[in-house]
Amino acid sequence: MPARNVTVNRAALGHRVAYALRHPDRAPRHLARAARDTWLRYRWPDHISYYRAVMRSDTRADPDAAVGSRSHERWLALGSMQFDYLIGHGLRPGHRMLEIGCGNLRAGWRFIGHLEPGHYYGIDISPDILAAAQDTLVRHGLQDRLPTLTPVRDLKFAFLPDAHFDVVHAHSVFSHSPLPVIDECLAHVGRVLAPGGWFDFTFDRTEGREHQVLREDFYYRTETLIALAEQHGLTARFMPDWEDLPHGQSKIRVTHGGGL
Ligand SMILES: C[S@@+](CC[C@H](N)C(=O)[O-])C[C@H]1O[C@@H](n2cnc3c(N)ncnc32)[C@H](O)[C@@H]1O
Repeated sequence: MPARNVTVNRAALGHRVAYALRHPDRAPRHLARAARDTWLRYRWPDHISYYRAVMRSDTRADPDAAVGSRSHERWLALGSMQFDYLIGHGLRPGHRMLEIGCGNLRAGWRFIGHLEPGHYYGIDISPDILAAAQDTLVRHGLQDRLPTLTPVRDLKFAFLPDAHFDVVHAHSVFSHSPLPVIDECLAHVGRVLAPGGWFDFTFDRTEGREHQVLREDFYYRTETLIALAEQHGLTARFMPDWEDLPHGQSKIRVTHGGGL
C-alpha cells in the first residue's frame, strides 16, 4: 500500500483534475459514481438514508466491494488485520462486543468465532449488507455462535443495555460519516460501554483542511475527534501501533473518562 497522504485535499478541483490526468482509466467510473450519488442525494437528502441507498446499490453489485474490498482476498486480509489487532489488545472470548457498521462481517465472522456464543452484537444502517452478513455466517458455519445482527436508524443505542459491552468496534464507518453522526455516537456510546471497556474506531486522517468527497468519504483531523469525545466526558487517544499496519486509515481508542 502506498504511504498515506495526510495533507492532500481530495475535494479540491486542482487535486481532482491532476488525479484524472494521472489515472484517465479511472475517470469514467468516478463520473458514473458521482452521477449516481448526485441522484441518491437528491432522492434521500438526510445522510443516513443516502448512505443506506449507496450501500443498497453497492451490495447488489458485490457485497465485498460494498465494504471497500477489491477482491475476496483483500476482504479476508482486512478482516484478519482488524481481528489480530484486537486479539493483540486483549480481546477475550468472555468479552461482549458491539460492532458498529458491521457490514458483511469482514472481521465480524472472526470475532463471532472467537467470542462465546451470544457475545457478538453487530449493527448497521443497511438491511442489504446485513442480509449479506447472514450469508457470511452460513458460509463459515457460525450459526451456533448465535450472533445478533440488527439494522439501526441512528447511533443512540437506545435499545441496548447500560454498561454492557467490553469492546465496541467501528472500522471504516466514521470515514463515511459527517461530524453530527460521529457526535451522536460519542454522545451515547459511554452509556453502553462497560467499566474498563474500550471503543476503537478508524477514520480517514488529514493534517490539512477537513473535507469530504461525494458525501461518501470524510477526512478529519485527529484533534477534532479527540476533542469531540472529550466533550462527552470520554477519554480518547490516537493509536500509533495501528499506523504500522498496511491500512489507509488511522485509529482512535475511546474509554470512560480517566480510564486510560
Ligand atoms: C466500509 S463498510 C465497513 C464494514 C465493516 N466495518 C468492515 O470493516 O468490513 C461501512 C459500513 O458501515 C455502515 N454504516 C455507515 N454509516 C453507519 C452508521 N451511521 N451507523 C451504522 N452503520 C453505518 C455501512 O452500511 C457499511 O456496512
